[in-house]
Amino acid sequence: MTTRVTHTDPVTSRLGLWIGLGAIALCFAIVGFIAANRPAEQSLAAAENRKQVDLGQLTYQQNCMACHGVKLKGRPSWEVSSSKQAGIPLSADGTTWHLSDRHLFDAIATGVRVKAGETKRIHDKGFAQSAGGRLSDQEVWALIAYFKTTWTARQVESQKETSFRERPEPAAPAAK
Ligand code: HEC
Repeated sequence: MTTRVTHTDPVTSRLGLWIGLGAIALCFAIVGFIAANRPAEQSLAAAENRKQVDLGQLTYQQNCMACHGVKLKGRPSWEVSSSKQAGIPLSADGTTWHLSDRHLFDAIATGVRVKAGETKRIHDKGFAQSAGGRLSDQEVWALIAYFKTTWTARQVESQKETSFRERPEPAAPAAK
C-alpha cells in the first residue's frame, strides 16, 4: 500500500479554498450590483431588439417618412426650407440623440419637444392615442428603437447617459 505525499498542509489548503471561493462570490456580487444599476437596463426602446426595430421601421414608413425622409435622413431641403413639410433628420445627422428616451417619447406622443428646459411645438398634433393620434405607446417606443439603429456608438452612449440622468422617478421602489 502506498501513501500519497502531499506537500501542502491540508488545513492551509482548505483555508485557501474558502478564501478563493469567497473572493469569487464577492466578484459575482459586485458585477451583479453594477449590472442591476446600469442605465441601459431601463430603456424601453432597444436597438438590439430586432422585432421592436422592425415595428419601428414600419411605423416610421407609414407615419413619418413623408417628412423626415428615407431612413430618417431628413428631406434634401430641410436645411434651407422653413416649410413645415421639410422634416429634419432623425438619424445621426440630426440632434434627436440629444433627447432622452423620455423626452423623445413625449415629443412624438404629444407633439411638444422639451429640450434644456425649453418647450417647443414640433408637430401640429401628437401621434399617440392618448393625444388623439393613432399610435400605441408600444409603437412610439418602437420608433425610438429604430432611431437608435442609425446613431453612432458614441451618440448611443451619450444618449444613454442623458436618459439615465433624466429618467422619471419610479412610482414605487423597484421590485426585486
Ligand atoms: C408633416 C411633416 C412631419 C411629419 C409627418 C412628422 N414630422 Fe417630425 N418634425 C417635422 C418638422 C418640420 C420638425 C422640426 C420642428 C422644429 O424643430 O421646428 C419635426 C421634428 C421632429 C422631432 C424633433 C427632433 C429634434 O431633434 O428635436 C422628432 C423626434 C420627430 N419630428 C419625430 C417624428 C416622428 C416619429 C414622426 C412620425 C410618427 C414624425 N416626426 C412625423 C415634421 C414632420
